[in-house]
Amino acid sequence: MQQRYQIIINIIKEKKLCTAHDLDHVLRVYNLCKRLAEHEAEVDMNVLIPAALLHDIARIVEDDDSSGAVDHAVLGAEKAEGILERLGYEKEVIKGVKHCIIAHRFRSGYNPETIEAKILFDADKLDVIGAIGIARSFMVAGQHEEKLFREIPLEEYIKENVGKNGRIKDNSKHAINLEFELKLKKIPHRLYTQKAKEIAFRRISYMEEFFSTLRDEVNGET
Ligand SMILES: [Fe+2]
Ligand SMILES: [Fe+2]
Repeated sequence: MQQRYQIIINIIKEKKLCTAHDLDHVLRVYNLCKRLAEHEAEVDMNVLIPAALLHDIARIVEDDDSSGAVDHAVLGAEKAEGILERLGYEKEVIKGVKHCIIAHRFRSGYNPETIEAKILFDADKLDVIGAIGIARSFMVAGQHEEKLFREIPLEEYIKENVGKNGRIKDNSKHAINLEFELKLKKIPHRLYTQKAKEIAFRRISYMEEFFSTLRDEVNGET
C-alpha cells in the first residue's frame, strides 16, 4: 500500500467512528473497489483509492447531529479536500475524489457520473447486503432496540411505522427482515457496474434464504 494511503488510514483511525461505519467497513469498501475496478476499463485508482478510504470520514458528524441538517457525503467531500491538499494531491485528483464522496450516498441528490464514483457507490452498497449486511444490521438494530424479527404484511407495516420521507417512526417496531423488504432487496437494481450487480444478486439471494430460515426458527418450524 502506498505511503500516502497509510497516512490516510492513520487519519481515519484517529477519528471517532460508529460501529457500522468503522475502519473495517472502510477497508471492506476499499477491497471491493479494487475488485470492481478490475472489471472496468480505465479506472483512475489515484482517485478511487483515496475516495474509498475517506468516503465516510464525516459519518459520525451526521450521526451525532439531531437536526438532520448534516449530510456526511457533502461534509466528507470538504474534509477530504483538506486532507488531500495537505498530502500534496493534484487539484484534478482532488476534484475526482470529491465527486466520488459526494455521490456515494443514496439520498444526497448527486448521481455518480465518473466510473470511479460509480464503483465507490456500488462497493459501499454491497457492504450493506449479504452476510456482512445481516451482521451489520443486527449490530445497529441492537443499539436502536429493534426487534429480532417481525412478521407483518409490508403494506400494513408501512402504514403503521414508515413516514412519508421513508424514515422509520418508531425503532422498537422495526426489524431487519422489514428493512430487507423495504430497502435492501432493491439494492441490486440501483447499482451501476455489471460486476457489482452480479455480486449483489448473489448476496440478496443469501439474505432471502437467511430470513426464511429465521422466520421458520422463530415460529418453531425447523
Ligand atoms: Fe457513507
Ligand atoms: Fe460507507
